[in-house]
Amino acid sequence: MSARTLLITGGAGFIGSHVVRLFIGSHPEYRIVNLDALTYAGNLENLSDIESASNHVFVHADITDEKAIDRVFSEHAVDAVIHLAAESHVDRSILDPLSFIRTNVMGTAVLLNTARRYWKDRQDVLFYHVSTDEVYGSLGDTGLFTEETPYDPRSPYSASKASSDHLVKAYHHTYRLPVVISNCSNNYGSHQFPEKLIPLMINNIVHRKPLPVYGEGLNVRDWLWVEDHARAIEVVFHQGRNGETYNIGGFNEWRNIDLVHLLCRIMDEKLGRAEGDSASLITFVKDRAGHDQRYAIDASKIHRELGWSPTLQFEEGLRRTVDWYLQNPTWVEHITSGSYLEYYQRQYSNR
Ligand code: NAD
Ligand code: DAU
Repeated sequence: MSARTLLITGGAGFIGSHVVRLFIGSHPEYRIVNLDALTYAGNLENLSDIESASNHVFVHADITDEKAIDRVFSEHAVDAVIHLAAESHVDRSILDPLSFIRTNVMGTAVLLNTARRYWKDRQDVLFYHVSTDEVYGSLGDTGLFTEETPYDPRSPYSASKASSDHLVKAYHHTYRLPVVISNCSNNYGSHQFPEKLIPLMINNIVHRKPLPVYGEGLNVRDWLWVEDHARAIEVVFHQGRNGETYNIGGFNEWRNIDLVHLLCRIMDEKLGRAEGDSASLITFVKDRAGHDQRYAIDASKIHRELGWSPTLQFEEGLRRTVDWYLQNPTWVEHITSGSYLEYYQRQYSNR
């Protein structure tokens, strides 16, 4: 695949900004068109160090806007897409499912359809869809999600992502559109919006606010350093086989309560607080509706076929993440002002 112009959607978000940074730094041969609607989760400050790179163009547009997407394909002669733009937070999908269906399902359909119209039968192009392990549903105490696990999405978020995966596969099957999909576990690292578990807890500890642990904190997630995910995307983009799915994960399962305790210990140490100070903020709150019990990814296919594995040990990754948030209070302040606070208050006033 010899892409020259690469359209990355959602490049001002958490994972997208890491992917854009990696591609701009490692692939000067590509022109990166970074398209993002700049929703509450998108932030151009995430790209401040690379915004003016000569191989980077930012386009402010919504993926559901057919005319805008058409214009991008026509003006930029797009050769490949890495599609990350999405509504990404499960709790928000419970409060407002339709915006997830609009962006994640309709937006993906608009991109696929535009790509098909422009690319026709070209086979030297690629539509790479970045998806989630949540499409596979929820695990019991044992077992791992493989690429063959049947889809069983259970939240409006995961159902919308599963729908978009199916559309990608349908365009491959029906129109021979060259595609690849990856399904990844929970990411953590710098620039993650502080509504997701790890940055929310860090921010609340800093401000000595309660740490809301859903239910009894016994749900399990498999955590992966965001820069390892970005590297996996780079590898799949270049070496993934047409029509294939690759699972990406950290082989790093944690019960939420154990993770929060570890984070509390790190924060006490970094903030010079007495041991146990942060943990005293832990507050068990009403469980998330339909809360999936356990996710765990079998990432052996991407390791075996493409040679990728996670590099960063979890505690080291958490320490680096904590350092980044402590060193960037202005970033947190900017991104958490405005609509996010309204949402947060609405969510917690029901508990
Ligand atoms: P994020 O919420 O941080 O960023 C999403 C980005 O998409 C934002 O910049 C936002 O402005 C943009 N966006 C939203 N709606 C848009 C629209 N209609 N048009 C154009 N842009 C729009 O999300 P993230 O955590 O970086 O996730 C990126 C992708 O990776 C998503 O597709 C998500 O499903 C997937 N994913 C995330 C994780 C995770 O742990 N965060 C794990 C696996 C897969
Ligand atoms: O598995 C991949 C998915 O991981 C991605 O597709 C999603 O985009 C991403 O948001 C993430 O989904 P989760 O729902 O697993 O992530 P979240 O950080 O919201 O929650 C992680 C766990 O922590 C989950 O079991 C719910 C729990 N939790 C979360 C929050 C925000 C709490 O106990 N308290 C909280 O305040």
